[in-house]
Amino acid sequence: MMSIKTVPLTKIKRAVVKKPTTATIELITYDNKKAIAELLKLQDIVSKDVEENIFHTSSKEFVDLYFRNGWGLGCYYQNRMIGYIMIQVTNHDENENYPKLIGFDSQKIAETACHRGAGVHPDYRGNHLQIILQDTAADLLKKSGSSKYVMCTVSPENIVSRNNIFASGYVCRGHMDHMYRSYPRDLMLLTLSATVNK
Ligand SMILES: CC(C)(COP(=O)(O)OP(=O)(O)OC[C@H]1O[C@@H](n2cnc3c(N)ncnc32)[C@H](O)[C@@H]1OP(=O)(O)O)[C@@H](O)C(=O)NCCC(=O)NCCS
Repeated sequence: MMSIKTVPLTKIKRAVVKKPTTATIELITYDNKKAIAELLKLQDIVSKDVEENIFHTSSKEFVDLYFRNGWGLGCYYQNRMIGYIMIQVTNHDENENYPKLIGFDSQKIAETACHRGAGVHPDYRGNHLQIILQDTAADLLKKSGSSKYVMCTVSPENIVSRNNIFASGYVCRGHMDHMYRSYPRDLMLLTLSATVNK
């Protein structure tokens, strides 16, 4: 795995740690089966206290599809994955096509990457890791030149995630009443040319 950056951890199990420590953000690609298996396990843990109508877990098959057509970032602390984000860069037709849903033409669809979910282990929440993972992913996409936009969906009731998605510069561009087996979701769009490198 390729190490991207080091980030501070100031809270563990919701308490401020006496001596702040650090975690690393690593790039995960399709060939890294061990990291993808760890991500699937972490996804099960992060979704335990969240209702399905608020956070939709991706099946193993969809996670495989995202990594075949994209990559992910893992946040590691003491050699354990404590946070992740999945980015599908191409081939949206096989799955929910967010850019098509907001009326993008085929050229703009090809220029749109999709943020397919992020999660942070409950013991490490409160360190802004979702924002850090989203912003790091946006920087990598911008630098690669492969995408001009990033899209994701969020439940109107997922307040923490929604605030974090807005904080990363996404704007709401649409709403679906029935996504992922009939759950309401807002369609969020980030324009990479408008982001500030972090
Ligand atoms: C959404 C999520 C990734 C945010 O984690 P995070 O980046 O650690 O959250 P933040 O650092 O922004 O937390 C901000 C505050 O909200 C609190 N918080 C974070 N997640 C929370 C949750 N699920 N429930 C209640 N409070 C939460 C934090 O403790 C922190 O409180 P503080 O300011 O008093 O310290 C995490 O809650 C999660 O994994 N949720 C389940 C999966 C999900 O909804 N993913 C997003 C959709 S793709």
